[in-house]
Amino acid sequence: MDILAIDIGFGFTKATDGNRSVIFKSVLGEATDLQFQGTILDAPADEHMQLEIDGRSLFIGDLAERQSNVRFFTLDQEQFVTRFVKYLALAAAARLVNGFIPVNLVTGLPIGYYKQYKDELATLLSGEHRVFLTDGSGKREEKSIKINKVKVIPQPFGSLFNLMLNDLGEVGDKRLVKEKIGIVDIGFRTSDYTVSDKMRYSERGSRTTDSGIARAFNIIATKLREKSGVNIELYRLHEAVDRGSIRIRGKEYELKSLTEQVFGQLASSVANEIDRLWADDWDMDTIVLTGGGGVVLAKYLQPLINGQVVVVDAASDARLCNVDGYWKFGKHLWAKGVIPAPSTMPAGNR
Ligand SMILES: Nc1ncnc2c1ncn2[C@@H]1O[C@H](COP(=O)(O)OP(=O)(O)OP(=O)(O)O)[C@@H](O)[C@H]1O
Ligand SMILES: [Mg+2]
Repeated sequence: MDILAIDIGFGFTKATDGNRSVIFKSVLGEATDLQFQGTILDAPADEHMQLEIDGRSLFIGDLAERQSNVRFFTLDQEQFVTRFVKYLALAAAARLVNGFIPVNLVTGLPIGYYKQYKDELATLLSGEHRVFLTDGSGKREEKSIKINKVKVIPQPFGSLFNLMLNDLGEVGDKRLVKEKIGIVDIGFRTSDYTVSDKMRYSERGSRTTDSGIARAFNIIATKLREKSGVNIELYRLHEAVDRGSIRIRGKEYELKSLTEQVFGQLASSVANEIDRLWADDWDMDTIVLTGGGGVVLAKYLQPLINGQVVVVDAASDARLCNVDGYWKFGKHLWAKGVIPAPSTMPAGNR
């Protein structure tokens, strides 16, 4: 059985089939009829992600950001599950599956919303989905995505499994199995905290908060609105913050010092949350920082955290740590038919 893993984040949707990965902004837009497709002169061609599903034609990710007049983006969990998740997941799946061959899917939810939405999410995604993909040249292709089984796990477990399991889904790093590990997964909207104590899940040490990168971006967007009068959608700030400046209506605004300041503030909120949440867990062996935001905040956070902090491999894209772990977990579950000990899962999943 082929295994597919999809991490549907508020900022980015990530997916892998074990060989190939896809990553795109979690933005949807109404498809429009493009008069001219492709690039002007030698500009690099972006992926054209256009999907027809349930009678709706949607642009996804960058294409929606650039070309749709009506765009949809949310930071609300309820709206995200009911109006976004299915389209984002199927857009990712359509890129990776061959069609007609059923797959088993591993996906996740933030710890704090796990119990509430896990059954709804599994129901939304399982079964057969007929979609049409349109490529950059306008060619339309039908795909049938058959999702056999769906396993939903708490998102930060992905990064834990990624560290523990090898590509065969077997326990590779025995040391981690014996340790008490705290995981901090900082994403675009949420920060997820969890503890694995000799592979046992700790409810006490697990929580979801809204200390994500978007909180820092919100302050930057507010400042830019005051200065320029333009309301900038948060998902359009990634490249500008990375570059350290933004040009709005011809005027250049420097972002480096403001970014340093707001990332510093966000890092101290996260450090405070760690201190409070893990006050009784002074026997923690290692704290793992993961998620795309984890890597971005690492240099601000490390001096504020006591104990041994491990930042997931910065050479690879940290946004993919959860989804890579989901995939390995899928291997672990289904490749050999071995079910992991129930004590590794929070209540509600046993
Ligand atoms: N190459 C990159 N491109 C864009 N963002 C990056 C990159 N590397 C790190 N980041 C950071 O990663 C963040 C997104 O991280 P991630 O994909 O883990 O969030 P998410 O899973 O979408 O959000 P959430 O977990 O809250 O649902 C961005 O806000 C940005 O700060
Ligand atoms: Mg995430």
